Amino acid sequence: ASLLTFLRDYLGLTGTKFGCGAGFCGACTVHLDGQAALSCLVPVSALGGRSITTIEGLRGADSLHPVQQAWKEGSVPQCGYCQPGQIMKAAAFLEENPSPSEAEAQQAMSSNLCRCGTYARIRKAVLRAAELRRAGA
Ligand code: FES
Ligand code: FES
Repeated sequence: ASLLTFLRDYLGLTGTKFGCGAGFCGACTVHLDGQAALSCLVPVSALGGRSITTIEGLRGADSLHPVQQAWKEGSVPQCGYCQPGQIMKAAAFLEENPSPSEAEAQQAMSSNLCRCGTYARIRKAVLRAAELRRAGA
């Protein structure tokens, strides 16, 4: 089974979404050892000992993750289906590049598709999340 199937069907963690099931849309993005990964392409048999974070585990005990906070402030989602994957991708990206330019944010997020076309709000929210992170939010 893929990690996506395991999360959704065995663990009931349905925040991670099934989109294409073939590595093209980003809806299934989770963190594997802190890096963004497409869970539809990862077999459970390859996980041995690796750390997995899903959208359910992104927020802190007392507060939203800065990316979630920025998404909320910017009212980013439309239908919402792609958004857990977008948020997980953005959170991993900002770990690697805490002060991205708008072009870098656009490039990093280009692997995650949104049928509702929320790309402009996503870009803006990534930059806002970077500000919140730098401010220690
Ligand atoms: Fe994994 Fe589309 S469901 S990339
Ligand atoms: Fe609907 Fe992205 S918000 S698919």
